[in-house]
Amino acid sequence: MWDPSTYLRYGSERSRPFFDLVARVGAGHPRAVADLGCGPGTLTAALAERWPGAAVHGLDSSPEMIERAGALDTRATFEVGDVADWQPAPDTDVVVSNALLQWVPDHERLLTRWVAALPAGAWLAVQVPGNFDGPAHRALRATGGDRLAHLFREAPVRDPAGYADLLLAAGCAVDAWETTYLHLLPAGTVVDHPVLTWLEGTALRPVRAALDADQWSAFRSELDARLRAAYPVRHGVVPFPFRRVFVVARVP
Ligand SMILES: C[S@@+](CC[C@H](N)C(=O)[O-])C[C@H]1O[C@@H](n2cnc3c(N)ncnc32)[C@H](O)[C@@H]1O
Repeated sequence: MWDPSTYLRYGSERSRPFFDLVARVGAGHPRAVADLGCGPGTLTAALAERWPGAAVHGLDSSPEMIERAGALDTRATFEVGDVADWQPAPDTDVVVSNALLQWVPDHERLLTRWVAALPAGAWLAVQVPGNFDGPAHRALRATGGDRLAHLFREAPVRDPAGYADLLLAAGCAVDAWETTYLHLLPAGTVVDHPVLTWLEGTALRPVRAALDADQWSAFRSELDARLRAAYPVRHGVVPFPFRRVFVVARVP
């Protein structure tokens, strides 16, 4: 289950890649814009502001996220649904997917299917985290051991060259890149290590769901100790490097 409040705890850090992504989308007056895996809808609302003439629609498989999105003061519309079943409409001129596809197995097949169905000149903009071999995910895998290994996939995403290759082969013009953000997370305000509270909004959800209360408490303390060693406090903040992979493709 996704918890919008936990996810939004680091909303400012999490939204920056979204704005860096959509800054590279050159659409002037799109007819329809889809935000796939829209989460709590705050960023979908920003798309509705950027393109006031477009029908902007957010889709997410989490009813909790869509309920939160539906309470926003925005003209964007929202719907519960699985992206695996989504198909572009003939007037979908922009598709945005920010921090979604790492959760979707075989998402490369979806990307090529969407490109084939999008109208000429449409834009597809995707961002995924690229930190699965970083210290936070190594700590998760070490703490989970064999028992939870099935919850942690080693490389659920490609690098920029991998997505460029896929979308060039589909006939698109492609812009692909990566950025490592250095998030400086406040260290003093919460008892838990801030990287732990960050992960609770995303990667830790399946772990929490798989464990009972005692097992979760033990897992959490062991992970907390590992994260404290991997990401020490410096001058009152915890520097947390976070690599992200971007691709923007234009349908010919
Ligand atoms: C990390 S959040 C990103 C939310 C938003 N795009 C943002 O950038 O703030 C990932 C979202 O993807 C949604 N999600 C995961 N798998 C999905 C699927 N198969 N279909 C639709 N949404 C999915 C989750 O419910 C969650 O809200």
